[in-house]
Amino acid sequence: MITSLREKFILPGQDSGDNGPYFLTHSIGLMTVKGRDYLSEHYLTPWQEKGGDAWPNWMTLLDRFTGALSKLTGVREDEFAHQPNLSAGLYKYLLALPCSDDPLKIVMHASAFPSMGFVVSALPSEGYELILIPEDKPAHDPQVWEAYFDNADIALITHVHSMTGVLSPVEEIARLAKSKEVKVLVDVAQSAGLIPIHLPNWGVDAVFGSCIKWLCGGPGAGWMWVPAADLPKLTPITAGWFSHANPFEFDIRNFEFSETAKKFWDGTPSVAPYAMALGGIETVLDIGVETIRARNLELLKLARPGFDFRQNGGTLCYEAGARADKIENELKSMKARYDRRGDLIRLSLHVTITDDQANRVAALLKPA
Ligand SMILES: Cc1ncc(COP(=O)(O)O)c(C=O)c1O
Repeated sequence: MITSLREKFILPGQDSGDNGPYFLTHSIGLMTVKGRDYLSEHYLTPWQEKGGDAWPNWMTLLDRFTGALSKLTGVREDEFAHQPNLSAGLYKYLLALPCSDDPLKIVMHASAFPSMGFVVSALPSEGYELILIPEDKPAHDPQVWEAYFDNADIALITHVHSMTGVLSPVEEIARLAKSKEVKVLVDVAQSAGLIPIHLPNWGVDAVFGSCIKWLCGGPGAGWMWVPAADLPKLTPITAGWFSHANPFEFDIRNFEFSETAKKFWDGTPSVAPYAMALGGIETVLDIGVETIRARNLELLKLARPGFDFRQNGGTLCYEAGARADKIENELKSMKARYDRRGDLIRLSLHVTITDDQANRVAALLKPA
């Protein structure tokens, strides 16, 4: 079973035999065989064979991508808009909200990915204010969030935090926010493809994602989700022929936003990243997100016995202190691909990791 799962992915260095365990999914997920093949099949080949007539194939590909996201999350595909990355999606969403007299107060935890905070900080201060919940308050505690909701308009929840691995109970935090009329936005960069997500249960206002990490789709294939009922209330600050209700009308005097989430598009969309990303999402759907998470939890428990991973995403974030160099040397000797920032070592455990490799991690993390 595990071997057949592994065959769906391309491990760097596998042809030269230089392929130790791949622990870097939190940074960039593995290329999938399907994604590599789709790049050629759905992007390069139509272009090579048909030139400009490749557009219908490319548009079908872009629609298949949102169709795959719809399967992954349980909501309508026309509620998704392709975006270059999460930051761009968040920026466009915030600026599309109706104007208010007072600055919009946006609360996020200080351990959210910095780029999401940068988006708010770079907006005009008379219109937007960033409120950070300090690092020493647990990001997964709904009561911590609740204390901020009397003085906030929007909460941005990070589903899984990249530097701590903390998994947030989105549904619970969202319920508390909604009871105080606070809008809820969610960053699923580190959870999509790993943690089962059923958006109808969340009751949130927007979700921002990419396909880089656990969806194994490479960079460039970002996306945002907005429920259909909210789309008429939002006026994007960007526009272009692809966000037009009828992109092929070509009447410079008439612009009307699309009624679908495509109103968050602008000019010609990029295509190639979505071919790779579609292959990634389909690979994840083939395996099943529940199966991926169950295997990930099994591996996490092997790698760090006794640790409670219930409030943790897929990455083991280990503060190694004085032992960081020693652990790093051992990871190098395993030919592992891993990540170290200061004394923090991050090891992501996707389905290509074997029990043996997880057990070796356990041995090297164990204090002497
Ligand atoms: C939790 C989280 N959010 C967002 C991002 C990246 O945002 P963007 O797509 O804007 O580069 C990352 C990247 O590592 C991340 O881990």
